[in-house]
Amino acid sequence: MSNGLLKGKKGIIFGALNSQSIAWKVAEKAHEQGAEIVLTNAPIAMRMGEIKELGEKIGATIIPADATSIEDLENLITKSMEILGGKIDFILHSIGMSVNVRKGNHYTNENYDYTLKGLDISALSFHKVMQTAMKFDAMSEWGSIVALTYIASQRVFPDYNDMADNKSYLESVARSFGYHYGIKKHVRVNTISQSPTVTTAGSGVKGFDSFIDYADQMSPLGNASADDCANYTVTLFSDLTKYVTMQNLYHDGGYSNTGVTQKVIDKFGSAS
Ligand code: NAI
Repeated sequence: MSNGLLKGKKGIIFGALNSQSIAWKVAEKAHEQGAEIVLTNAPIAMRMGEIKELGEKIGATIIPADATSIEDLENLITKSMEILGGKIDFILHSIGMSVNVRKGNHYTNENYDYTLKGLDISALSFHKVMQTAMKFDAMSEWGSIVALTYIASQRVFPDYNDMADNKSYLESVARSFGYHYGIKKHVRVNTISQSPTVTTAGSGVKGFDSFIDYADQMSPLGNASADDCANYTVTLFSDLTKYVTMQNLYHDGGYSNTGVTQKVIDKFGSAS
């Protein structure tokens, strides 16, 4: 259902890999709400081809960019302004990857080259995107920038490995850059801390199936879906949330404020 919440707005969406991707759902919903979009992903992800299907569906141009490469980002930002015919109203950063997780390295036995690579892709890239946008004065006044994060940035989830550190850094960048972008251009910057969700990146976490069930039972509303995350993201891109900035916003069915639920207590049975 469209309320035209993003009518006339133009945005760049990073990270749609396949139809499970959170970014994919955001692109569909933003389009449904009237936005014009440029899609981007790492050149290697393009080769899998699925993003083209999304581009056709929502009439979006696709520009490859490795989010760690300033050259690629400069090309993306300048070309997007040409294609969209003006400044950008919103950006979604939906990117995450840990090489240590992929290679099965334990948190206490990191390969630091991998750590730095993962940090660059998952967190520093957010700074790079915003610094490039600022350099080219690409954002509209009162524009909105959102990145996706996970609660392992704030509490220990042992198998989330070095992605936990990457997410802490990402959330900090949102606060710090949000300050400067707010003063300079009234641009707001937030992170959405999403429930565990079945996607390519999510399923890389060890024991993900049990983990997702646990989170579901620990959330009074249950786990939030990717579709609902996309709805929430759309509200942050809209003019209805103009004064929300520098926040880490939980979209998790209440998980983050729950100590325990009856469902989880019941799993342990009676103590007597
Ligand atoms: P996904 O695997 O569909 O998306 C990750 C994206 O990052 C892919 O499109 C991938 O191509 C892109 N990417 C990787 N390296 C890149 C690079 N160098 N340059 C540009 N793009 C690059 O998975 P998902 O779950 O949709 O992930 C999106 C965001 O949501 C990530 O930040 C993830 O950490 C976050 N998130 C995911 C949760 C989950 O359980 N799936 C929970 C909370 C947050």
